[in-house]
Amino acid sequence: MNLILGIESSCDECSASVVRYSPRAPLEVLSVSTFSQVRIHQPYGGVVPEIASRNHLETVNQMIDGALSEAGIGANALDAIAVTNRPGLVGALLVGISAAKAMAYALGKPLVPVHHLEGHAVSVFLDQQARADELPLPMLLAVVSGGHTNLYVMRTHPELWQPDFLRRSLVGRSRDDAAGEAFDKTAKILGFPYPGGAWIDKAARDGDPAAFPFPRALPQKATLDFSFSGLKTAVALTAEKLRSEGTLEARLADLCASIQEAIVDALLTKIFLAIRENGCRSLAIVGGVAANSRLRARLEAEWRSHRLEVPPLFPKPAYCTDNAAMIAGAGAFRFRQGQFLRELDLLSLNAIANPEL
Ligand code: KG4
Ligand code: ZN
Repeated sequence: MNLILGIESSCDECSASVVRYSPRAPLEVLSVSTFSQVRIHQPYGGVVPEIASRNHLETVNQMIDGALSEAGIGANALDAIAVTNRPGLVGALLVGISAAKAMAYALGKPLVPVHHLEGHAVSVFLDQQARADELPLPMLLAVVSGGHTNLYVMRTHPELWQPDFLRRSLVGRSRDDAAGEAFDKTAKILGFPYPGGAWIDKAARDGDPAAFPFPRALPQKATLDFSFSGLKTAVALTAEKLRSEGTLEARLADLCASIQEAIVDALLTKIFLAIRENGCRSLAIVGGVAANSRLRARLEAEWRSHRLEVPPLFPKPAYCTDNAAMIAGAGAFRFRQGQFLRELDLLSLNAIANPEL
C-alpha cells in the first residue's frame, strides 16, 4: 500500500500523519492530526521544555489514533513508522520516539529515524505537483524557522540523500538568533503574543517598510552567514523612544513593516548570493518563516533575475510550521533506501538534542 506513519514531537507541536508514497509520484498526505501547544506556552513568552514533554505525553496517542482514523486505515496497513529523533528538546523528542518504538515493535514494522530539518526540506513536496526527482539541481534549500536559519546546497534528489547530507551541504547559517527568533523577540518587545512572526506579518500590511532603517547585519560579500541580534537591539531602542513620545501605537504598522523588511532583506541577500556562488538552478524555502507574506511576494517578483530555472518552491502554508506529514515524507525517502531499524534493533533508537550540523 506504500503507507507510512510520521510522528513529530521535537518542540511544541504534537503531530501524527499518514502519507502515501510511490516511486516517481508526488507525496500524498492522507491525514494530519496536530495538537499545537502554542497557547499553553504563551503566558511564559516561549516554550517551557518540561511543560512541552508532559503535554506530548498526554496527546501523542490521540494524534496517532486521529491520523490513522482520518486516513481510514488500521495500523497493520502501514509499511513503516517514521519519527523525529533529532534535533529538538530531548524530553519532547523522547515522547514521540517512545510511542513510535512501542508501535513499531508491537506491530513488527520498520522504524525510520528522521532529522527534523530533513522533514522541513521534504515539506515542499507534500501534496504538490512538483516531484522530488524532477527538480533542476543543484537546489538551494533555505530552512528558516524559529530554531534555524540554514542554507544548504542540495546536489542530489531526496531519494538519494545520504545519512549525513545535511552536514555536508551546509553553506551558511545564523551566528546568533534564527530568523523566526528575530521575529519573535522583536514582536515581544512590541507587546505581541508568542510566537510573534505571524503578528508582525499581519500588522506590517499597512506599514511603510522604509520608515525605520534597521540594520542589515553581515552585508559583506564574503560570508553566507546571518546575524539578527543587532536588529533586536535597534528595535528595542526605537520602541523605547516611541513609547516615551507616546507614538508607539501610531507607528506600529511602520515599525512592523520595517522589522519585516530588515529580516526579509537579510534573508534574500544571502539566498541570492548563495545561488550565484553555487550555480543553483532551483530554490526551496521551508520552515515557519516561509509562511511570511512579504518574503513570498518579494521572491515572486525577484526570482527571475537570479538564474533560477523554476519558480521558488514553498510548502503549502499548513506544512510550513512543524507537522508530522513532512516527517512521514522524509521517512518514506529514507525507508526506500533501506535506512531503517527493525525488531530488537529499533529499541536502541535515542533522541539527540543537538546533532552535529
Ligand atoms: O518551523 P517552525 O514551526 O518551528 C521551528 O522548527 O522552529 O517555525 C516557527 C517560527 C516562529 O518563529 C514563528 O514566529 C515563525 O516561524 N512564523 C513566521 C510566520 N509564521 C510563523 N514568521 C514570519 N511571518 C510569518 N507569517
Ligand atoms: Zn521546525
